[in-house]
Amino acid sequence: MNIKITPVKTLKGEITIPGDKSISHRAVMFGSLAKGDTHISGFLNGDDCISTIKCFNKLGIEIETEGDKVVVHGKGLHGLRSSATPLDVGNSGTTIRLISGILCGQPFDTVLTGDASIQKRPMSRIIMPLSQMGAAIESTNDGFAPLTIRGSKIHAIDYTMPIASAQVKSSVLLASLFADGETIVREPVASRNHTEIILNSFGANIKSENGVITSSPVEQLNAVDINVPGDISSAAYFIVAALIVPGAEVTVKNVGVNPTRTGILDALKAMGADITIENLSQNGGEPCADITARYSDLKATVIKGDIIPRMIDEIPVFAVAALHAEGTTLVQDATELKVKESNRIVTMIQELGKMGAEITETNDGMVIRGSQQLKGAPVYSHLDHRVAMSCAVAALAAQGETEIIDGDCVGISFPDFYEKLASVRG
Ligand code: S3P
Repeated sequence: MNIKITPVKTLKGEITIPGDKSISHRAVMFGSLAKGDTHISGFLNGDDCISTIKCFNKLGIEIETEGDKVVVHGKGLHGLRSSATPLDVGNSGTTIRLISGILCGQPFDTVLTGDASIQKRPMSRIIMPLSQMGAAIESTNDGFAPLTIRGSKIHAIDYTMPIASAQVKSSVLLASLFADGETIVREPVASRNHTEIILNSFGANIKSENGVITSSPVEQLNAVDINVPGDISSAAYFIVAALIVPGAEVTVKNVGVNPTRTGILDALKAMGADITIENLSQNGGEPCADITARYSDLKATVIKGDIIPRMIDEIPVFAVAALHAEGTTLVQDATELKVKESNRIVTMIQELGKMGAEITETNDGMVIRGSQQLKGAPVYSHLDHRVAMSCAVAALAAQGETEIIDGDCVGISFPDFYEKLASVRG
C-alpha cells in the first residue's frame, strides 16, 4: 500500500510507542525455554515478533496473545519438540539468527526459511561460530537461508567476534545454554546487551566485563514477568521529526534507554539537539524514561567507531536530521548498514535523493550535505520499514507531498506509525 505524507506546520504532543522489538523477541524465546509461564506486557505486535511467536508455536510452545499482553507457557530448556514443516522467520534477522543458536542443540532437525530479503542476509556470521561449537548447519543457498539445522552435541568455545553484532553474540550465548562447559564471547565493540540482561533474569549465568562475556551452564531457566519498554528505535522517528520541524515539541513516554541503545541521543545532542530525558526508572534491569525533543538549530557532526553499534538501526533517520544541520555530516565505520533489511546506505541515498537530498556513498558510510530544503516526491520503501519511516519524517519538513510506495511495511516494527504521526501534527 502507498502512503501519502504532506508537510506539517508544526508537531506537538505526547505519545507512547510500541514495545521494544529486540526485547519482545527475546521475551518469547527465553520464555519458551523457561519452566513455567512468562507473562509479557508491552509486547510489540509487529510482523517480526509475530514470526517469532509462530516459530515457537511450531516447536510445541503454547503462547496466548491479547493486545500487547502475551503469556508464554514455557516447557524448560529441553522441552521443545520438532516441527514437521519448516519454520518461517518472515523478514526477521533477529528471529533466524537467535533461534539458530537454540535449535543447534536440540535432539531433532529443523529447516528455517524466510522472505526474499532474509534470503539475501548473511548467515555465515552465525554458521561459523555455531559450527565451531559442533552445530551442523547447512545452507542450500550459498551461506544464506534456507538453513537446515541438525541437532548436535554442543561444545563450549572461546569466540572472538569479527564484527559487533548483538544477533551473533546472542546466537552463541543461546547455544551455550546447551554446551558442555563455559562459553566465552569477545566483542570488538559493545552491542546491545538485552540477551545478557534478560537471560540472567531467567536464571542464566552470564557475566560481562570489558567486552568479554562468559556464559556458564545452568540446569534450568525459570519463568519471569517482563514489562517491555517502548522501542528507542521507534521513538527516534518522532525525536528527529521534532528537531527538524519549526516550533515542534514532542514527548515520547516510557522509552527504553539502555546505554547500549542510546547512541542516537548522544549523536543528536552532539549536533546541538534540545533533548531532555525525564522520569528515569528501572524495569527488570532495563532503564526507561520519557524523552522530549524540541525544534533545534542542528550543526553537522561525525559519527564513527563505538557509537555505530549503539545507533545502528537509527542511522537512516539520523541521516534525515543531518540534512537539516549546518555543515557536512560524516557517517563512518557503518558497513553493517549494507546487510540490513535493505542496503541502507544505498536505499537511503536513492530515496532521499529523489527528494533532492545530496548524500554521497563512501566505502563504509556516507557524506551528508546539510541545510537542504527537500521537495516531496514519490519514494520507494524497498520493503524496509526503517527506510519507509525515515522518508516519512523527511516528508514532514519537505515542500509538497511525498508518496511512500509500499509504505505499509512499517508493520514490521511499528504497525500504527502513521496514526501516531497524525496524532502529533500541529
Ligand atoms: C538486533 C541487533 C541488531 C539490529 C537488529 C536487532 C537484535 O542487528 O540491527 O535490528 O535484536 O539483536 P546486528 O546484531 O546484526 O547488528
